Formats: sequence, C-alpha cells, structure tokens
Amino acid sequence: MRLQEKVSIITGGGSGIGRATCQRFAKEGSYVVVAEIKETAGQETVDLITDSGGRSNFLPLDVTDINSVKAMVDDTVKRYGTIDVLVNNAAIFPMLSVEDATEDDWINAMRTNVIGYANCIKEVAPIFRKSGGGSIINIASVSGFIAEPKVVPYNASKGAVMQLTRCTAMDLADDHIRVNGICPGLIDTAGATQIIIDRGLDLIEADKERAAMGLMQRTGRPEEIASVALFLASEDASFMTGTHIVVDGGQTID
Ligand SMILES: NC(=O)c1ccc[n+]([C@@H]2O[C@H](COP(=O)([O-])OP(=O)(O)OC[C@H]3O[C@@H](n4cnc5c(N)ncnc54)[C@H](O)[C@@H]3O)[C@@H](O)[C@H]2O)c1
Repeated sequence: MRLQEKVSIITGGGSGIGRATCQRFAKEGSYVVVAEIKETAGQETVDLITDSGGRSNFLPLDVTDINSVKAMVDDTVKRYGTIDVLVNNAAIFPMLSVEDATEDDWINAMRTNVIGYANCIKEVAPIFRKSGGGSIINIASVSGFIAEPKVVPYNASKGAVMQLTRCTAMDLADDHIRVNGICPGLIDTAGATQIIIDRGLDLIEADKERAAMGLMQRTGRPEEIASVALFLASEDASFMTGTHIVVDGGQTID
C-alpha cells in the first residue's frame, strides 16, 4: 500500500495508460479521481476500481478549459480535503508533417498536450503548497526527444512537456513539490491503435513492425507505465525531481 490514504488525480483516466494508472493507484490505497473528457469511459474506470474494492470517483474534465480544471480541482478538495498526486496524462495524437499540419492542428496539439498539463499544474500547485508538498507526474514520450517521420506537432508537444517538467520542478522545489516525467515507448492502448487506423495501415503488420523497434521485441502494456508512475508518486522517489524515466523496452538505446 504505497499510496495509503493519498488523493490522486489522473487526467485522461478513461483509457490506456491513464486507466491502468488509476487502477494501480487505487490498489495501492489511494483515493482516485478519474478526470476525463469522455464520461462513459471515465465512469467505466471508476466501476472497475470500485468493483475490486478500491475508492474512486469520476469528474468531467477538459484540460484545455481552465474553468473545467478549476471545477475539477475544487470538487476534489471539497470531497477529500486535499490532493497529493497529479498525473498529467490526457493527450491527443496529431500525426502530421509540418507541411500537412494546419494552424488548428498545431493549436489543438499544444492546447491539449502542453497547456492542458500546465492548466492542471497551475490549479493543483496551490493545494500542494498548502498541504506541504506533493508529486506531479507528466506523461511525456520518447517522441519528446527522438525524430520520427510525419509526427511534427505531436513530437514538438512532447518535447515541450519535457521542458515543462524541468522548469516547473525548479519553480516548485522550495514548496516540496516534486515534478517528474515518464517517456513511454510504444504502449498498447486505444490511442496508439487509432494512430495506425488513421494512417490507413494494416493493424497486424503495423504491430509487428512496432514491436520490432525495441530490444524487447514487443510493445509495452499500460500497466508497465502505471508501475513507474506509482514509483514516482510514492516516497520511494523522494529524492527525485525534474527528471524523466524512459520506459520503452530498449527502443531508444542508441
Ligand atoms: N500509447 C503509446 O504508445 C504512448 C507512447 C508514449 C506516450 N504516450 C502518452 O501517454 C498518454 C496516454 O496515452 P494513451 O495511449 O493511453 O492514450 P488514449 O487515447 O488511450 O487515452 C487518452 C485519454 O485522454 C482523454 N483526453 C483526451 N483529450 C482530453 C481532454 N482535453 N481533457 C481530458 N481528457 C482528455 C481521452 O478521452 C482518453 O481517454 C498520453 O500523454 C500519450 O501522449 C502514449
């Protein structure tokens, strides 16, 4: 029980890495706020948690809307009294070259993947400060530091998330707020599958190709990111801030 009685908010908790993180944190004793734009998906995560004896509730959230973030944070504090952990995870996947991307594609990528993370940190930081500290985990990506074909807005947004992590860690260190990131490689989620579909690729062939990219010759499971998020959220990572853990099965070793 590494998060006994802690209060955790996980954005984008209705699917993939977010859902696995919600489930793992609840198993470790945390109250889990599933903060998600898709109500049915978010509520499904809550049901999975409560059916296995965990404590969780759904709150509607659009990370791009500061008023929605404020309402979600206020509701959480009213309900539980404080907040201990924020996992910034909700993101979109605009896979385009710089020539194909429209200005709107760029705005949407940055609004959700970067400003959305910043909005949540902005509203949660004063609560952490009041209670003497907290842990923020930004889900970045290996796409934040490697080049890949035709994914410019997404990779640029993930590079920005990595700088958001480092700079915010510096600003919040005096308040005992740790800010770290995780850089997953290819993880099997609905979001990752949608990219293959959007690109018109064959799912089985694309899966084989994706798996071959890492030393471990397979894609990762959302639970394998959730366990690293748990480490960063817990006291086991008490001397870590401003850094990223790469979890990619050896994809970016060279
Ligand atoms: N799957 C991968 O291979 C992979 C690799 C590296 C990094 N990541 C990162 O991991 C995180 C989760 O990815 P995933 O693959 O689980 O994606 P996913 O699409 O399965 O889940 C993302 C969730 O975020 C929610 N969401 C989207 N926009 C939102 C908004 N404005 N407000 C609130 N919720 C919103 C979606 O409804 C969805 O439930 C993302 O930050 C992604 O960039 C994923």
